Amino acid sequence: MISTLLPAAAVAVESTVDREIALFPEEAHQVRNAVVGRQREFTTVRWCAREALGRLGLPAVPVLPGRRGAPQWPEQLVGSMTHCTGYRAAVLAPRSEVSAIGIDAEPNAPLPDRVLDSISHPEERAWIQRLRWSAADVAWDRLLFSIKESVYKTWYPLMGRELGFEDAIVTVDPEARSFRAHLLLDREVRATGAPTWFDGRFGTSGGVLLTAIALPARQPGNPADAGRHLPSGVR
Ligand SMILES: CC(C)(COP(=O)(O)OP(=O)(O)OC[C@H]1O[C@@H](n2cnc3c(N)ncnc32)[C@H](O)[C@@H]1OP(=O)(O)O)[C@@H](O)C(=O)NCCC(=O)NCCS
Repeated sequence: MISTLLPAAAVAVESTVDREIALFPEEAHQVRNAVVGRQREFTTVRWCAREALGRLGLPAVPVLPGRRGAPQWPEQLVGSMTHCTGYRAAVLAPRSEVSAIGIDAEPNAPLPDRVLDSISHPEERAWIQRLRWSAADVAWDRLLFSIKESVYKTWYPLMGRELGFEDAIVTVDPEARSFRAHLLLDREVRATGAPTWFDGRFGTSGGVLLTAIALPARQPGNPADAGRHLPSGVR
Protein backbone atom coordinates (compact mmCIF):
# COMPACT_ATOMS: atom_id res chain seq x y z
CA MET A 1 0.00 0.00 0.00
CA ILE A 2 2.63 2.57 0.98
CA SER A 3 4.36 2.12 -2.37
CA THR A 4 1.28 3.65 -4.04
CA LEU A 5 2.00 6.89 -2.17
CA LEU A 6 5.59 7.13 -3.37
CA PRO A 7 7.40 7.72 -6.67
CA ALA A 8 8.51 4.73 -8.73
CA ALA A 9 12.14 5.28 -7.68
CA ALA A 10 11.30 4.33 -4.10
CA VAL A 11 11.37 0.72 -2.92
CA ALA A 12 8.88 0.05 -0.12
CA VAL A 13 8.54 -3.06 2.03
CA GLU A 14 5.82 -3.39 4.65
CA SER A 15 4.67 -6.08 7.06
CA THR A 16 1.55 -6.59 9.15
CA VAL A 17 3.12 -9.43 11.12
CA ASP A 18 6.33 -9.56 13.11
CA ARG A 19 9.38 -11.12 11.44
CA GLU A 20 12.31 -12.97 12.93
CA ILE A 21 15.79 -12.12 11.72
CA ALA A 22 19.18 -12.24 13.35
CA LEU A 23 20.02 -8.63 14.07
CA PHE A 24 23.58 -7.45 13.53
CA PRO A 25 25.34 -7.19 16.92
CA GLU A 26 25.35 -3.37 16.70
CA GLU A 27 21.60 -3.41 16.08
CA ALA A 28 20.95 -5.90 18.90
CA HIS A 29 22.95 -3.63 21.21
CA GLN A 30 20.48 -0.79 20.53
CA VAL A 31 17.53 -2.72 21.95
CA ARG A 32 19.31 -4.90 24.54
CA ASN A 33 17.33 -3.31 27.40
CA ALA A 34 14.11 -2.62 25.50
CA VAL A 35 10.74 -4.21 26.23
CA VAL A 36 9.69 -7.09 23.99
CA GLY A 37 7.29 -4.94 21.93
CA ARG A 38 10.05 -2.48 21.08
CA GLN A 39 12.43 -5.32 20.19
CA ARG A 40 9.81 -6.76 17.84
CA GLU A 41 9.04 -3.52 16.01
CA PHE A 42 12.76 -2.69 15.78
CA THR A 43 13.52 -6.14 14.36
CA THR A 44 10.61 -6.29 11.94
CA VAL A 45 11.24 -2.86 10.49
CA ARG A 46 14.86 -3.88 9.93
CA TRP A 47 13.61 -6.97 8.15
CA CYS A 48 11.67 -4.55 5.92
CA ALA A 49 14.82 -2.47 5.39
CA ARG A 50 16.91 -5.52 4.49
CA GLU A 51 14.28 -6.68 2.02
CA ALA A 52 14.32 -3.22 0.43
CA LEU A 53 18.13 -3.24 0.26
CA GLY A 54 17.96 -6.65 -1.40
CA ARG A 55 15.50 -5.40 -4.00
CA LEU A 56 17.95 -2.62 -4.80
CA GLY A 57 20.67 -5.25 -5.24
CA LEU A 58 22.47 -4.21 -2.07
CA PRO A 59 23.66 -6.39 0.82
CA ALA A 60 22.13 -6.28 4.28
CA VAL A 61 23.85 -3.77 6.55
CA PRO A 62 23.16 -2.69 10.12
CA VAL A 63 20.57 0.09 10.22
CA LEU A 64 21.53 2.12 13.26
CA PRO A 65 20.07 5.27 14.77
CA GLY A 66 22.21 8.36 14.26
CA ARG A 67 21.68 11.83 15.67
CA ARG A 68 18.22 12.29 17.19
CA GLY A 69 17.31 8.71 16.18
CA ALA A 70 17.49 9.28 12.42
CA PRO A 71 18.33 5.97 10.71
CA GLN A 72 21.68 5.81 8.95
CA TRP A 73 21.64 4.43 5.39
CA PRO A 74 24.32 3.58 2.85
CA GLU A 75 25.69 6.81 1.32
CA GLN A 76 23.84 6.45 -2.00
CA LEU A 77 20.39 6.05 -0.41
CA VAL A 78 17.75 7.98 1.47
CA GLY A 79 15.24 6.09 3.55
CA SER A 80 12.61 6.13 6.26
CA MET A 81 10.94 3.66 8.61
CA THR A 82 7.75 3.54 10.64
CA HIS A 83 5.95 1.19 13.00
CA CYS A 84 2.60 1.23 14.74
CA THR A 85 0.36 -1.53 16.09
CA GLY A 86 -0.06 -4.13 13.34
CA TYR A 87 2.03 -2.34 10.74
CA ARG A 88 5.75 -1.80 9.97
CA ALA A 89 7.37 -0.37 6.84
CA ALA A 90 10.69 0.78 5.41
CA VAL A 91 11.25 2.74 2.20
CA LEU A 92 14.51 3.39 0.39
CA ALA A 93 15.33 5.44 -2.72
CA PRO A 94 18.49 6.40 -4.62
CA ARG A 95 19.78 9.80 -3.50
CA SER A 96 20.26 10.65 -7.18
CA GLU A 97 16.45 10.71 -7.59
CA VAL A 98 15.06 11.55 -4.16
CA SER A 99 16.80 13.98 -1.82
CA ALA A 100 14.74 13.14 1.26
CA ILE A 101 11.94 10.77 2.19
CA GLY A 102 9.68 10.35 5.20
CA ILE A 103 6.88 7.92 6.00
CA ASP A 104 4.59 7.48 8.97
CA ALA A 105 1.86 5.05 10.03
CA GLU A 106 -0.72 5.71 12.73
CA PRO A 107 -3.94 4.00 13.82
CA ASN A 108 -6.91 5.48 11.94
CA ALA A 109 -8.52 6.66 15.17
CA PRO A 110 -8.94 10.06 16.82
CA LEU A 111 -6.08 11.54 18.82
CA PRO A 112 -6.36 11.45 22.61
CA ASP A 113 -8.08 14.50 24.11
CA ARG A 114 -6.17 17.78 23.95
CA VAL A 115 -3.35 16.45 21.74
CA LEU A 116 -4.75 18.18 18.67
CA ASP A 117 -4.46 21.62 20.26
CA SER A 118 -0.79 21.06 20.97
CA ILE A 119 0.14 20.03 17.42
CA SER A 120 -2.05 22.25 15.24
CA HIS A 121 -2.71 25.77 14.04
CA PRO A 122 -6.27 27.21 13.99
CA GLU A 123 -6.33 26.93 10.16
CA GLU A 124 -5.62 23.20 10.44
CA ARG A 125 -8.30 22.70 13.07
CA ALA A 126 -10.77 24.41 10.71
CA TRP A 127 -10.28 21.86 7.89
CA ILE A 128 -10.27 18.98 10.37
CA GLN A 129 -13.61 20.16 11.73
CA ARG A 130 -15.04 20.48 8.22
CA LEU A 131 -13.84 17.08 7.02
CA ARG A 132 -14.98 15.28 10.18
CA TRP A 133 -18.54 15.65 8.92
CA SER A 134 -18.08 15.18 5.20
CA ALA A 135 -15.53 12.34 5.14
CA ALA A 136 -15.72 10.28 8.31
CA ASP A 137 -13.59 7.38 7.00
CA VAL A 138 -10.41 9.19 8.01
CA ALA A 139 -9.47 10.37 11.51
CA TRP A 140 -8.38 13.78 10.21
CA ASP A 141 -6.82 14.92 13.47
CA ARG A 142 -4.63 11.80 13.53
CA LEU A 143 -3.85 12.33 9.87
CA LEU A 144 -2.50 15.79 10.66
CA PHE A 145 -0.30 14.25 13.35
CA SER A 146 0.98 11.61 10.94
CA ILE A 147 1.67 14.19 8.24
CA LYS A 148 3.75 16.21 10.70
CA GLU A 149 5.67 13.09 11.74
CA SER A 150 6.41 12.41 8.06
CA VAL A 151 7.48 16.04 7.67
CA TYR A 152 9.89 15.67 10.56
CA LYS A 153 11.32 12.39 9.23
CA THR A 154 11.89 14.06 5.86
CA TRP A 155 13.28 17.26 7.29
CA TYR A 156 15.63 16.07 10.00
CA PRO A 157 17.98 13.84 7.98
CA LEU A 158 18.09 16.52 5.28
CA MET A 159 18.76 19.54 7.47
CA GLY A 160 20.03 18.18 10.79
CA ARG A 161 17.81 20.67 12.63
CA GLU A 162 14.80 20.36 14.87
CA LEU A 163 11.35 21.25 13.54
CA GLY A 164 8.40 21.72 15.89
CA PHE A 165 4.75 20.95 15.23
CA GLU A 166 4.17 24.72 15.11
CA ASP A 167 6.73 25.08 12.31
CA ALA A 168 4.48 23.56 9.63
CA ILE A 169 1.01 24.47 8.38
CA VAL A 170 -0.64 21.62 6.54
CA THR A 171 -3.38 21.73 3.93
CA VAL A 172 -5.00 18.60 2.50
CA ASP A 173 -6.82 17.71 -0.69
CA PRO A 174 -9.23 14.99 0.50
CA GLU A 175 -10.21 13.92 -3.02
CA ALA A 176 -6.67 13.59 -4.34
CA ARG A 177 -5.50 12.19 -0.98
CA SER A 178 -2.57 14.59 -1.03
CA PHE A 179 -1.24 17.29 1.24
CA ARG A 180 1.17 20.19 1.33
CA ALA A 181 3.13 21.15 4.45
CA HIS A 182 4.24 24.79 4.35
CA LEU A 183 7.33 25.19 6.51
CA LEU A 184 7.46 28.32 8.66
CA LEU A 185 11.21 28.83 8.70
CA ASP A 186 13.05 31.78 10.09
CA ARG A 187 15.25 33.83 7.79
CA GLU A 188 18.47 32.19 8.91
CA VAL A 189 17.18 28.71 8.05
CA ARG A 190 15.69 29.85 4.73
CA ALA A 191 19.08 31.32 3.82
CA THR A 192 20.58 27.82 3.94
CA GLY A 193 18.43 26.91 0.92
CA ALA A 194 16.08 24.78 3.00
CA PRO A 195 12.92 23.59 1.26
CA THR A 196 9.92 25.74 2.17
CA TRP A 197 7.25 23.13 1.55
CA PHE A 198 6.84 19.39 1.27
CA ASP A 199 4.17 17.73 -0.86
CA GLY A 200 2.96 14.29 0.13
CA ARG A 201 0.25 11.70 -0.15
CA PHE A 202 -1.86 9.77 2.31
CA GLY A 203 -3.98 6.64 2.36
CA THR A 204 -5.64 4.10 4.62
CA SER A 205 -5.01 0.39 4.84
CA GLY A 206 -6.67 -2.01 7.29
CA GLY A 207 -7.26 0.47 10.09
CA VAL A 208 -3.92 2.25 9.57
CA LEU A 209 -3.33 5.75 8.23
CA LEU A 210 -0.25 6.11 6.05
CA THR A 211 1.51 9.31 5.03
CA ALA A 212 4.50 9.69 2.75
CA ILE A 213 6.73 12.46 1.43
CA ALA A 214 9.44 12.08 -1.20
CA LEU A 215 11.32 15.24 -2.08
CA PRO A 216 12.59 15.02 -5.65
CA ALA A 217 16.34 15.57 -6.05
CA ARG A 218 15.30 18.72 -7.93
CA GLN A 219 12.02 20.33 -6.88
CA PRO A 220 11.04 23.15 -9.22
CA GLY A 221 10.05 26.32 -7.38
CA ASN A 222 11.34 25.17 -4.04
CA PRO A 223 14.85 26.33 -3.16
CA ALA A 224 16.16 23.57 -5.33
CA ASP A 225 18.12 20.54 -4.28
CA ALA A 226 18.29 21.29 -0.59
CA GLY A 227 20.83 18.48 -0.31
CA ARG A 228 23.49 20.84 -1.62
CA HIS A 229 23.07 23.10 1.35
CA LEU A 230 23.40 20.55 4.10
CA PRO A 231 25.30 21.71 7.12
CA SER A 232 28.67 19.98 7.17
CA GLY A 233 28.60 16.53 8.69
CA VAL A 234 24.94 15.96 7.83
CA ARG A 235 24.29 13.43 5.11
C1 LIG B 1 11.06 10.85 15.61
C2 LIG B 1 9.56 10.77 15.46
C3 LIG B 1 9.10 11.58 14.26
C4 LIG B 1 9.17 9.28 15.26
O1 LIG B 1 7.81 9.14 14.93
P1 LIG B 1 6.84 8.11 15.69
O2 LIG B 1 5.48 8.25 15.09
O3 LIG B 1 6.98 8.34 17.15
O4 LIG B 1 7.40 6.66 15.42
P2 LIG B 1 7.42 5.72 14.12
O5 LIG B 1 7.29 4.34 14.59
O6 LIG B 1 6.48 6.15 13.06
O7 LIG B 1 8.89 5.95 13.56
C5 LIG B 1 9.99 5.51 14.29
C6 LIG B 1 11.15 5.54 13.35
O8 LIG B 1 11.39 6.88 12.96
C7 LIG B 1 12.75 6.99 12.60
N1 LIG B 1 13.30 8.18 13.22
C8 LIG B 1 13.54 8.40 14.53
N2 LIG B 1 14.09 9.61 14.68
C9 LIG B 1 14.19 10.15 13.46
C10 LIG B 1 14.70 11.39 12.97
N3 LIG B 1 15.23 12.31 13.78
N4 LIG B 1 14.68 11.62 11.65
C11 LIG B 1 14.16 10.70 10.79
N5 LIG B 1 13.67 9.51 11.19
C12 LIG B 1 13.69 9.26 12.52
C13 LIG B 1 13.46 5.73 13.11
O9 LIG B 1 13.72 4.90 12.01
C14 LIG B 1 12.42 5.11 13.99
O10 LIG B 1 12.47 3.70 14.00
P3 LIG B 1 13.58 2.92 14.84
O11 LIG B 1 13.66 3.60 16.17
O12 LIG B 1 13.11 1.51 14.91
O13 LIG B 1 14.86 3.09 14.06
C15 LIG B 1 8.81 11.31 16.73
O14 LIG B 1 9.06 10.46 17.83
C16 LIG B 1 9.21 12.71 17.13
O15 LIG B 1 10.24 12.95 17.76
N6 LIG B 1 8.36 13.72 16.83
C17 LIG B 1 8.58 15.08 17.27
C18 LIG B 1 9.06 15.99 16.18
C19 LIG B 1 7.97 16.28 15.18
O16 LIG B 1 7.26 15.41 14.77
N7 LIG B 1 7.82 17.53 14.78
C20 LIG B 1 6.81 17.91 13.83
C21 LIG B 1 7.41 18.73 12.71
S1 LIG B 1 6.16 19.43 11.68
